[in-house]
Amino acid sequence: MRVAIKRSGGVAEYDVPDREYTVTVMQVLDYIYEELDHSLAYFRHSACCQGVCARCVVKANGKSILACVEKLEPGTRALNLEPAGNRVVRDLVIEKD
Ligand code: FES
Repeated sequence: MRVAIKRSGGVAEYDVPDREYTVTVMQVLDYIYEELDHSLAYFRHSACCQGVCARCVVKANGKSILACVEKLEPGTRALNLEPAGNRVVRDLVIEKD
């Protein structure tokens, strides 16, 4: 799967291996961070990760979603991610009201 992420310095593209099972957008971000690019900033709350705190909101293919609960079906070919707000702290992390 081709993942394009709008980061603070421009758009970065990553190749993420296709999985035969459903993954969440958060799992894709974790893979990129752990295996490809340790400099990627995104919100991760290991105590939540259940769609409760809403801090992991990002825009995926133009739509605001919660990364920890949004599922990608096997066979998804492309994913475009960007911050879900104007007050960007860094990469996909935004200031919360
Ligand atoms: S980490 Fe809390 S809603 Fe996603």
